[in-house]
Amino acid sequence: MNNNIQIFDTTLRDGEQVPGSKLNTAEKIIIADQLELLGVNVIEAGFPVSSPGDFEAVEAIAKRIKNATVCALSRAVEKDIDAAAEALRHSVAPRIHTGIGTSDFHVYSKLNMNRNSVIEHAVSAVQYAKKKIFDVEFYAEDAGRTENQYLARVIEAVIQAGATVINIPDTTGFCLPEEYGEKIKYLMDHVKGIENVILSTHCHNDLGLATANAIAGIENGARQIECTINGIGERAGNTSLEEVVMIMRKHEKLKFINSINTQLLCETSQMVSEMMNMPIQANKAIVGSNAFAHSSGIHQDGFLKNRENYEIIFPEEVGALDSSIVLTARSGRAALAFRLKNLGYEFSKDEITELYATFLIVADKEKEIRDEQLHMIAKTPINQAI
Ligand code: KIV
Ligand code: ZN
Repeated sequence: MNNNIQIFDTTLRDGEQVPGSKLNTAEKIIIADQLELLGVNVIEAGFPVSSPGDFEAVEAIAKRIKNATVCALSRAVEKDIDAAAEALRHSVAPRIHTGIGTSDFHVYSKLNMNRNSVIEHAVSAVQYAKKKIFDVEFYAEDAGRTENQYLARVIEAVIQAGATVINIPDTTGFCLPEEYGEKIKYLMDHVKGIENVILSTHCHNDLGLATANAIAGIENGARQIECTINGIGERAGNTSLEEVVMIMRKHEKLKFINSINTQLLCETSQMVSEMMNMPIQANKAIVGSNAFAHSSGIHQDGFLKNRENYEIIFPEEVGALDSSIVLTARSGRAALAFRLKNLGYEFSKDEITELYATFLIVADKEKEIRDEQLHMIAKTPINQAI
């Protein structure tokens, strides 16, 4: 089995479902171009049947993107599939993503069907889509809560119907990583024809496990990860692209490879955050403003001796600004000396010890000490509080 992991970005579809994040066609095109530059393998551009605006956006993206598959979502309904195929008609590598709910919740209390009729619908949808476009991805919505034996029956049937990629969404973000990994392994071991398709993860973050579940998925045989920039998406979001990509890069022993240019991660993250009106939490892994900021005295001292003491990722790997030494009342002498030196001041060790006392008095009153305050501290006669 090869170790190449396909990165399927759904920022423009699942990500765009976030309230307040809706994009117009021009904005979607800018993000799609950036995703292509970033090196994603698949761009899920939208859900064409949902609105004329989304149809237009998918059509425009399908026309211009040359280095990635362009995918459009549909339900297992002919009019959705027609709209998806029509919007994708100019794409050099189009993919229809169609599917239906398979958990008992969805089968009985959403679709009002039974298990057999869901399989029939799934098969018909894949066969119908296949007549229009070769590359058909099938999603078993709420696969995370679907009994494995029944899920295997559904998947075997849609593979026979011609599906090329099988998406196993943990739609409600319910699974534990072990459970999700076992589900993928169960399908790998029990579904006839599974070796001819790509299994895909699509994990939601309701319990904060979306990234861990996606990694468990690829460790057990999945070869595509569906994810979004900054982890945005329905409710608590999806697997975050930057997290899974950096996990693969940092844990070489996993031996997974992908095509992402990691140096574009921060720039892409900023673009998506600004255009989709979704601020990035400061402590967000990889792309948060504090991801490379060191603020406690113990960490700062260790970092200044050797950055690898406290950094497993270097900012330049992900296109972030340099690491920063933030000065707060928890900072130490080494950090104070470092920041003063950056401002052009050279003090002896004893002088730093004395300035540090002044620094602490000021720092106790402030959240963070800025350069202007440092100049004042540096120029203040020793032991005279500001
Ligand atoms: O979470 C989900 O189940 C989905 C599907 C439509 C793929 O987003
Ligand atoms: Zn989803």
